[in-house]
Amino acid sequence: MTETLLYEGKAKKVFTTDEENVLLHRYKDDATAFNAQKRGSWKDKGKTNATMSAAIFAYLETHGIPTHFVEQVDDTTIKTKRLTMLPVEIVVRNVAAGSLSRLLGFEEGRKLKAPIVELCYKDDDLGDPVLNWYHFRELGVSDEDLEFCEELGLKVNQVLAPFFDERGIILVDFKIEAGRDSEGNLMLADEISPDTCRFWDKETGEKLDKDRFRRDMGGVEEAYAEMLRRVTEITQRGAVD
Ligand code: TMP
Ligand code: ASP
Repeated sequence: MTETLLYEGKAKKVFTTDEENVLLHRYKDDATAFNAQKRGSWKDKGKTNATMSAAIFAYLETHGIPTHFVEQVDDTTIKTKRLTMLPVEIVVRNVAAGSLSRLLGFEEGRKLKAPIVELCYKDDDLGDPVLNWYHFRELGVSDEDLEFCEELGLKVNQVLAPFFDERGIILVDFKIEAGRDSEGNLMLADEISPDTCRFWDKETGEKLDKDRFRRDMGGVEEAYAEMLRRVTEITQRGAVD
């Protein structure tokens, strides 16, 4: 199979293949934070992000959520449908942390009355700002697409919050993206991993995600390995349908 590099991002490479409308996403061990001002790398990060994303996309599909996921090809690579991405980052929050704590002055760890969905404009130069629907209309994103994004975020949260709860993890918040396939169908895309979610241990409150890297807390490699273990081992045992 001929692989042609289409795009290299901060944490992954994307390739086209001989198959039309199919891409390979190969996850790297590299990480950045704060819009690439901070850089790092740790062992098996790519493996964790690819394998966790694959397991979770497959699980979401069984719950009626369409995704770009086709199959996992090797430890660090997943095959996906080729999509035209919406310029939107969909953030869903159950507990205050990070930028929401700063925005509303909420203490980190404060449980929210109901999930909060934020639609951010995917633009590194602007720092991916949270926008409202008027801004998005001005940028040419349709109300239908925004509605899809909000509903997708809430539905993914409804499925994943209990999934992680059964694995002893509080799903504090997460970021997803969406795109349209060649036939015009909108679906979930990107990745679901400790890079793009906040995961706190239910018993100890320990952070098991990229905040360990962002905040120089140490133990980042161990945290990623622990999240991979909780997702794959319990999934393989079939404890949760
Ligand atoms: P925030 O609190 O920094 O806005 O982050 C909210 C969630 O989005 C958190 O789970 C981490 C994730 N996230 C990304 O996936 N990519 C990003 O560039 C940022 C800033 C956050
Ligand atoms: N992914 C973003 C960056 O590079 C930020 C983050 O995850 O904190 O820089």
